[in-house]
This record gives sequence, structure tokens and C-alpha cells, in this order.
Amino acid sequence: MKELNHLLEVIEEIAAGRYSNDVMELTRPEVSEPVRSIAEAMGLMMVKVEAREYRLELLIQELRELNEQIRHNAVGTVSAMAGALAARDQYTEGHAERVGTLAGLIAAEMGLPDDEVELIRVAGRLHDIGKIGFSDRLFLPHDKKNPEDVVREITRHPQTGADILKDLDFLGEALSFIRCHHERPDGRGYPRHLTDPDIPLGAKVIAVADGYDAMTTDRPYQKGKTPEEALDILKKFSGSKWDPACVAAFERALPKALAGPAAITTCGLP
Ligand SMILES: [Fe+2]
Repeated sequence: MKELNHLLEVIEEIAAGRYSNDVMELTRPEVSEPVRSIAEAMGLMMVKVEAREYRLELLIQELRELNEQIRHNAVGTVSAMAGALAARDQYTEGHAERVGTLAGLIAAEMGLPDDEVELIRVAGRLHDIGKIGFSDRLFLPHDKKNPEDVVREITRHPQTGADILKDLDFLGEALSFIRCHHERPDGRGYPRHLTDPDIPLGAKVIAVADGYDAMTTDRPYQKGKTPEEALDILKKFSGSKWDPACVAAFERALPKALAGPAAITTCGLP
């Protein structure tokens, strides 16, 4: 009776998902029948269940890795599109890559969780993908002042970019970062003239990285500014053109950014 009660307790434990080796004690030769046979059958069953669980864990792991690989490839494919864009625009070569890196550094400096930092970095890398639809004349050397129809075409690129990428589910919120990367806290941005708090944080981070890189890069109409000069301008327009918290985080992250690629966390993405 004692053995039977023990067996019942063990079965209840197993039913509750708590596997232990207690059942094996009941398979000893001195244990009376039918408790011993039932315990043996239970022991065999547990071995099979555990083997299946192990196999299941392996499959889940494989699926995770596959999913990561698909995501990695998708970002790589879209980055190749961004590369094609850069090839059309000799003045922005490396811009998307640098903005992605800088945006990631700012986001990390702000203490955001790793997955958000990664999303902001990817969005930064793809932020201007909408320019792929620009007509060739926009990539030709031109004066600083653009004609009205050109301005109209330019202001469409954040929405065009989000539209191009909308089927990449893993981008999630990153689409709104891309759509809003030219919005400004004072409402004078585009395309929707949003104001805080309607501008996503990721978009504000990218705007700072984008502004800094644009200012420090040589253009046909301007010599690139020094990092210090660009930082002064970011701080001057902090609160109107750029988000103050993002500018402050950028100032703290700047030494790391200037230290070069070795200081950059890539979060496992290409
Ligand atoms: Fe842009």
C-alpha cells in the first residue's frame, strides 16, 4: 500500500510536469507487483518524453537561428538597395551606414534596450531608402536651393521608404522611424509636420545622426564642418529642429563615434 501511494504521488508529480528520478526507485526488484511494472512503464515513458522534449528544444533553436538568418538576409538585401542608392548619389556615399551606426550609439547612450537599439540602427541604415524613387536629376550636382517641384519630390522620400519596406514584418516600429526621420519637435518638419510627443523616439535619434553626418560631409555647395562645429549647431537647434535628449545623448556618445568602427556595437546585424 505504501509503494502504491508512492507511485501515485510520483504519477501526480509527472502529470504536473515535474519529472524526477523517484519513479526509478520503484523499479527495484524488491518492489512488489504490479507497482514495479507500472513504475518501469512510467520510467520508459519519461525517457521517451524527455527525448522528444530535447528534440523539440533543438527544433525551436533551429527555428530561431533560421529566423535570425532570414532577418539578416532581408536587412542585407535592403542594404544592397541602399547601396544602389548610394551609387547614384556620390555625395552621400557611406551616409546610410554612418547614420545607422551613429543612431545605434545614441540609442545605446540613452539606455534603450538592446532590441530597440538594434531596430534604430537598422532604421538609420535604411532611413533614406525612399530616395531610390528619385529622378536622376536630383542626384546631379545642384545649387543649395532646390526648385519647388524638387522640394516636393524630396519631401516624399520618408513615406516612400516606409512603403517600400512595409512587408518586412521584423522592422515593426522601424517603419515609423523611417517615416518620421525628417519631422521636427517644433512641427516644421515633413512629411506630416508632427510635433512632440507624436514623433517616435527612434525617428528623433535618427534625425540627430542624419543631421550630424550631413553637416560633417563635404557637399558640392558646402565644405564639411568639423565634429565640434556640427555639435554646436545641433545644440543651437536643440528643442526646435532636434530633440534635446537625443542631442545630449549624442554629445556624450560623440567620443565613441569618433573613436571609429571598433567602438560600435553591431548587435549581430550586417
Ligand atoms: Fe532623409
